[in-house]
Amino acid sequence: MTIADPTWLDQLDASTVDVAEAMTLPAELYTSEDVHRFEGDALFAREWLCVGRAERLAAPGDWFTVVLHDEPIVVARDKAGEIRAMSAVCQHRAMQVCDGAGNDTTFKCPYHHWTYALDGRLLGAPAMERTVGFDKGEYGLPRLAVEEWQGFVFVNLDPDAPPLAPTLSRYAPYLEHYDLADAVCPGTFTLADLPWNWKVMFENFNDGYHANRLHQYVQDFCPSSMSDFPVPWSDDSNVIFRTAGYTHVDGGFNATHHAIMPVFPRLTEEERTRSTFALIPPTLCFGTAPDQCFFFLVRPTGPQSIDVEIGYLFHPSALDDPLFEHKLKLSDVGVQVFVEQDQDATTKVQRGLRSRFAPRGRYSWQEESHIQFNRWLVQRYRRALAGGPGAP
Ligand code: FES
Ligand SMILES: [Fe+2]
Repeated sequence: MTIADPTWLDQLDASTVDVAEAMTLPAELYTSEDVHRFEGDALFAREWLCVGRAERLAAPGDWFTVVLHDEPIVVARDKAGEIRAMSAVCQHRAMQVCDGAGNDTTFKCPYHHWTYALDGRLLGAPAMERTVGFDKGEYGLPRLAVEEWQGFVFVNLDPDAPPLAPTLSRYAPYLEHYDLADAVCPGTFTLADLPWNWKVMFENFNDGYHANRLHQYVQDFCPSSMSDFPVPWSDDSNVIFRTAGYTHVDGGFNATHHAIMPVFPRLTEEERTRSTFALIPPTLCFGTAPDQCFFFLVRPTGPQSIDVEIGYLFHPSALDDPLFEHKLKLSDVGVQVFVEQDQDATTKVQRGLRSRFAPRGRYSWQEESHIQFNRWLVQRYRRALAGGPGAP
């Protein structure tokens, strides 16, 4: 299959039918340079892309940059307290106006010192007085749409994109008792250039089928057989999620199988005996446990590579514990066991997808999430090819 083949999209329909009937997606979707480029337009230029937690932009002037599918983007809190997102590409000769994170009143491009306001307006451009017809008003940084959801900042390259929150309503009730806008993230770390496609990452994150198989013993308290897909798929949804039941209350993904941090106090008994795992494609993988939430910000660096920024969210009272740092290490060591097993699997999956023997396999009922992800994906591929809103 190549996307030059006019039937390629129709070949994907076998992956969107009922899980009992469906086949996995063709391997080329995970390896091809053409598909990667196509997804840049079909997904990354139109969908809501999570860039991180709003708490990184606590004060006016706070800013940070991310590169999303090769687009450098800067997010900032302006003087009026609004979160703004803009292309970080200087509108003079395309240098990146800033890189990293900081707190400033303006952005000064290092190359020739064009200076932009925190909302992207061009404020100053040296030695341009002889340039005929040059109007500063026409050279601001291109603006992106911004939306905050559960304390996460999302941006959209399409400034007219419809709002994100209504498309996440299937999942919102599962988060209500976490009060996530107030949860604290003690920092993130980034794993760079991991050798697999972003969709392999998403599928692995939301794959209950491997829970107590690949992670046998370490995840026996949260077995694959207790996977559930409680809310039916709907085509207007931007979230794919499942619940993962525990064999005991207040379980934890560490060697003790019990929560280490303070349990979010408003959780119900039922919420304390499960995790939820959610995908908000194409950039956010998010999960909950009774004492913590965890997120992966996935950023493709090529058809077969990604950067992943990983962070945890805790109830604010966790920070009051004098042993917080120790407990964080304990919790992190537990997660590392999973991460290493998952990395070995996803590295080998990607190699398998390059193989001449790569399958179009079949699914277990425990993989219903993958069908929902396929539906999300194929719907958007089709919309882009049909020249729907935002078509290239
Ligand atoms: S490229 Fe930014 S000022 Fe010239
Ligand atoms: Fe895993």
